[in-house]
Amino acid sequence: MLRNAWYAVTRSAVLQEAPLTVRALGEQFVLWRSPQGTVQAMADQCPHRGAQLSRGWLTAGCLTCPYHGWQFNTAGKCVHIPANQAEATIPKRAQIKTYATTERYGLVWLYWGDLPAAQGIPIPPLPEWGAPGWRAIYGESEWPAHFTRVTEGNMDSSHAPFVHSAFFGLRDGAQVPPYTVETTPWSVSAITISKPPKRAGILKLILKRDRPVTTAHLTGYLPGVNRIDVDFKFKGYRFIYFGVHTPVDEATTRTQWIGLRNFLTAPWADGHSRRNVVKTFEEDCAVIASVRPAIVPFQGGTEVLVGSDALQVAYRKLLRQYAQQGWWWSDRYPSPRQPTLV
Ligand code: FES
Ligand SMILES: [Fe+2]
Repeated sequence: MLRNAWYAVTRSAVLQEAPLTVRALGEQFVLWRSPQGTVQAMADQCPHRGAQLSRGWLTAGCLTCPYHGWQFNTAGKCVHIPANQAEATIPKRAQIKTYATTERYGLVWLYWGDLPAAQGIPIPPLPEWGAPGWRAIYGESEWPAHFTRVTEGNMDSSHAPFVHSAFFGLRDGAQVPPYTVETTPWSVSAITISKPPKRAGILKLILKRDRPVTTAHLTGYLPGVNRIDVDFKFKGYRFIYFGVHTPVDEATTRTQWIGLRNFLTAPWADGHSRRNVVKTFEEDCAVIASVRPAIVPFQGGTEVLVGSDALQVAYRKLLRQYAQQGWWWSDRYPSPRQPTLV
């Protein structure tokens, strides 16, 4: 897992006033909203005698432990111990570890790392979110797989005819034309050209039969965010999938995804659009969970990679670059220290 990065942990709409427990990054967090509406994130364990704080409640803007009623302010500092005599002081160590949070694109993001957030990996841009003419839907799914495998699978152009044959069509048209990978300090991307997807689901309503090609602008952002921008080459219609893959732990990943479309933007089409994404996830999930090694190899020689894997190679290179500067954290997989190229 990569430190010094933002991770989407839940949806803004899900997080109301009541404390919410979230498992992510191998840790248990409690999230809650202050009376001012800002999101607080803390370790979900009371420093007194270890109760789970998310079982508690808010008292005048302070999180109250359900066990002995200690109260903690938004800085995680204990401000009241009900059992204490009036003159007793509150121990300095009565302090909970807190995490920076922000809300963007309708998601709650938590910053996980030791460097200041300004020096870490930024939240990827999503300019279409909230822009006029775009409709957003949300979903969440869980994968029994490492987030690196999910991320590289979500920007893979050569698997579609096999894993998603119902949607993307014939396996005898599986060639991937050469593409150019563009790399930034936080992302890798490429534009791939393919035959248009089958006119399945709501695409029946918007696609004409004679479309020669569709392009997909595939991007992977560190640590594990995908953007798939599909341009149907018809009336400017596009579908953007934005998936944030947050490790629950080193064997499980939870994805918060947003589907944005600029066609059939009325709510009645949401269900169709959601079903397409969920179906695709289910098809991916079975294969991706089976992949070994469970985490992408940082060293070359483990797998046999070909031209159509260029985007995966570039993602691993980028990941390794940050891992080598000490941002990788794992208690299951060895840290990739040797700069061997895949
Ligand atoms: S365990 Fe939280 S107040 Fe005692
Ligand atoms: Fe897929």
